[in-house]
Amino acid sequence: MKLVTCGLPYANGKLHIGHLRTYVPADVYVRFLRMMNEKVIFICGSDCHGTPIVVNAEKEGISPKELVEKYHEHFMRVFKEMEISFDFFGKTTEYYHHERTKEIVNRLIEKGYVYSKEVELAFCEKCNRFLPDRYVEGICPYCKSPARGDECDQGCGRHLEPGEILEPRCKLCGNIAIFKKRKHYFFKLTAFQDFIKYYLSNLSGTENAINYAKEWVENLKDWCITRDLDWGVRFPLDETLVLYVWVDAPIGYISFTEKFTREWEDIWLKGDAEIIHFIGLDIAYHHCIFWPAMLRAANYALPNAIVASGMVKIEGKTFSKSRGYVVWVEDEYLRAGFNPDYLRYYIVNYTSHEKDLNFSWDVFREKINNEVIATLGNFLFRIMSFSWKNFGTVKMVVDREIIERIAKSKERIVEAIRKWEFKSATDAIMELASFGNTYFQNSKPWEIIKSDKERAMKIVANALQIAKALIIFSYPVMPKSMEKIGKAIEMNLKSCSIEDATKVEKELKIMKLELPFEKIEEKDLENLKMALLDRFAEKPEISIEDFKKLDIRIGKILSVERVEKSKKLLKFIVDIGNERRQIVAGIAENHKPEELLGKLVVVLTNLKPARIMGVESKGMILAADADGKAFLLIPEKEVEVGTRVK
Ligand code: 2FM
Ligand code: ZN
Repeated sequence: MKLVTCGLPYANGKLHIGHLRTYVPADVYVRFLRMMNEKVIFICGSDCHGTPIVVNAEKEGISPKELVEKYHEHFMRVFKEMEISFDFFGKTTEYYHHERTKEIVNRLIEKGYVYSKEVELAFCEKCNRFLPDRYVEGICPYCKSPARGDECDQGCGRHLEPGEILEPRCKLCGNIAIFKKRKHYFFKLTAFQDFIKYYLSNLSGTENAINYAKEWVENLKDWCITRDLDWGVRFPLDETLVLYVWVDAPIGYISFTEKFTREWEDIWLKGDAEIIHFIGLDIAYHHCIFWPAMLRAANYALPNAIVASGMVKIEGKTFSKSRGYVVWVEDEYLRAGFNPDYLRYYIVNYTSHEKDLNFSWDVFREKINNEVIATLGNFLFRIMSFSWKNFGTVKMVVDREIIERIAKSKERIVEAIRKWEFKSATDAIMELASFGNTYFQNSKPWEIIKSDKERAMKIVANALQIAKALIIFSYPVMPKSMEKIGKAIEMNLKSCSIEDATKVEKELKIMKLELPFEKIEEKDLENLKMALLDRFAEKPEISIEDFKKLDIRIGKILSVERVEKSKKLLKFIVDIGNERRQIVAGIAENHKPEELLGKLVVVLTNLKPARIMGVESKGMILAADADGKAFLLIPEKEVEVGTRVK
């Protein structure tokens, strides 16, 4: 039996392509295992505690509970649409999770692995509070990059212990923090150094994570496992403290398994299953060091493999939400109407699992059009349409060489999947599709059929067997599309095994196939590329001629009203000198319509007209965009309406 897990996403924001970099390959892996007739359980859930949650809840002006509910729902919805087939998706706010966490922490205490110590912690005198983790920002003591309280997120990636960060500042008010004493609790991580070294030398998975961990294991410090927060799992020895989120989050792997199956004890206590964690490389430290030490100390089973995906770049830039280098899965990708399978394919095939994946809309379009549609889709469509038109039912007499060719692909795929080499597995699929295309093209059944129907049927049978194999091999990567295609030859993919690829039926009945693939056109990407460019903090250099193309003028607001059913939008009539314009702007959240009447504003007047929520808008009122809030630009002195802005 195998237990496969994915790193639990913090329920503090929407899913982006960076998340999918881990979840899609893990899902592909699990789907292949199921097709290889292995018993596998696939577990994940929302990580609901810690300062990532509390800080964002404060930002959004809602309670931590409301925040995690909102994003938990979002995760479930988007994972379903992206066909991520978790057997169970839990959340760490649940009672059973708190109970399992406390049980494990109590074991650590009973065994003498937890001690208390007075420590000097960052404290904000203005906010009158301790500043755990993300409440404090400063400088990493190791690499001197800007860092958060518990991690050097922009530099060396190290975990930082409370009190380690240099030049700490309060994230809430920006004040310089002072250090203040407070009793906290520590896990004796240093006692596990030899164990971890030994464990890492036997650990399977991807080298990237293990190599990192091997470097870090030389310099272990005991691990502070409590925090001054109200939100989280209460620490059993002192209920004024909660456990550090990195204590309870991985325990989610256990508590969710426990909630899902009675077999959880066999898996987590007896060690009867192979435990495989899929993670992003940024959390390798926690999974290769803290987690195994904690499991060992509490006498639980240890993970057998840590599979870490490389990070994501967006159009060549290091992924960063704050800098706008991000692609949102629901609001952007899915809402644009793209097939989820396209993104799944891109993610597993762009590069090897350990390397950084670059997401670029143009590369996306090229890969999908050339590989998924022109190679795989084209072959499936050609052979299936030809068989449907000319035969309806095909007697399946398949040449030995064809079966051998398919078997070779199958072996390569299975071998690659077992080693988490998803690119190599999907390359093998595309190569088989190219082989199919060449075979069909060179054998010319459309000519042969005119004189020798029997021989044409033999060619078609060979090509159909390749098609069937391709549908089976591609199913774990593109499940929805393959299900649709498979239906045309009466395949039930849900109960198919990978071995069926080389099994030959007596005959195949072929129905009309409508290919569920639509080519991606340049114009489909325009808005998405614009949105990205718009968010990028660094924009490309432009010439003065480019700038001169903008017709910007001072306008005066003559009337304002709310746009129906919209929280954000206001509809303006603006006098721009030579004419009056209707303009829609998204500034209702922090402006009352009546306050804006008669104000002078800066208007981009030659913007292509657009309809926004059904309302025509001709121009744009310029504003400063501060964290999603808009502040209007206003001339410093009263100037005439229509005055040019240069
Ligand atoms: O880094 C993160 O997004 C964490 N929420 C991952 C937790 S993984 C696990 F250990 F639960
Ligand atoms: Zn650092």
